[in-house]
Amino acid sequence: MSVSVIGVDQLDLAAVELAEGRLVAIPTETVYGLGADASSGAAVKGIFAAKGRPDNHPLIVHVHDSQAVEAIAESLSDSFYRLAEAFWPGPLTVIVRRRLVANDDRPVVAPETVGGRPTIAVRVPDHPVTLDLLARFAEVGSGLIAAPSANRFGSISPTTAAHVVDDELPGLGLVVDGGPCRVGVESTIVDLTGPKPELLRPGGISTVELEAVIGPVADGRLGDARASGMLESHYAPNTSVELVEAVEEDDLASVLTAEAKIGVVAPFACRHEPHWEMPTDAGEYAARLYSVLRSADLAGVERIVVVPPRSGSLLDAVLDRLTKAAA
Ligand code: TXA
Ligand code: MG
Repeated sequence: MSVSVIGVDQLDLAAVELAEGRLVAIPTETVYGLGADASSGAAVKGIFAAKGRPDNHPLIVHVHDSQAVEAIAESLSDSFYRLAEAFWPGPLTVIVRRRLVANDDRPVVAPETVGGRPTIAVRVPDHPVTLDLLARFAEVGSGLIAAPSANRFGSISPTTAAHVVDDELPGLGLVVDGGPCRVGVESTIVDLTGPKPELLRPGGISTVELEAVIGPVADGRLGDARASGMLESHYAPNTSVELVEAVEEDDLASVLTAEAKIGVVAPFACRHEPHWEMPTDAGEYAARLYSVLRSADLAGVERIVVVPPRSGSLLDAVLDRLTKAAA
């Protein structure tokens, strides 16, 4: 299938494609998403098929605003409203209870979207193009876009429209180009369905920021693999990745042996070639990370040595992705 890349001037076409059950890749502030109508089981099946993703891995539903969540969710808590007010639109996903039966004529999320669970993951993305698309899609369809990252299962998330095209996802005919993603790592996921809020995946909003709004957030990552990002060896390039702590190139002497052709990704300058010099701040590092891992993957090296960023509020999220890339 050949892929068309369209711009903001063709969002009506994208809204009609979604309403007719077809796949559309969408820009967000975190990574590009592979979108389909979340109210249609048939439409979301196309997402699982295109990604090669197991169909029990639930998808995030993207909506225009928190009112749209009220139509598809039940028993929304005070914490939900506080988080929505503080961080939406933005890189935060919350898990809430799913409304199983529609009230009025408003569509609800299809069971296929959430692998049959009684809960749903929802977020309002902070991207003007996709917010505009969501508003148009609400006029001609459900206005609910289910979207995982628009890459093949287990590989690196796309942060440009060109990355999406490169992944050649079967069944995808349309990519909306909204430019490079500002945040560059996926949204933070917080589960609000238990007795206490739990962090399932660190991401674009830090735990410190969350706790300032709703108080203590427990680390839910030690439990089962509820979020697919919790599985080991996720977000991985084809080339093997080795994570090394270092402050300067000399610290890498023992790993940069002559036997193997190695690429270095590090927050300092290097004489070694090839290398990609990264920012020291985790937020700026995150914005470039996936794109650099893709380039390093294509550079024909046998191994990629990655030195993490030094500081910044997105340090947790970056370390999480790097650890998984190295697993
Ligand atoms: O930034 C992002 O979140 C991007 C953009 C496109 O929005 N999306 C994204 O989707 O990263 P994906 O499918 O790669 O990750 C969604 C995560 C998965 O780990 C999934 O297991 C978890 O959300 N998830 C979805 N629904 C859930 C639910 N009901 N309960 C627990 N986890 C859920
Ligand atoms: Mg993903």
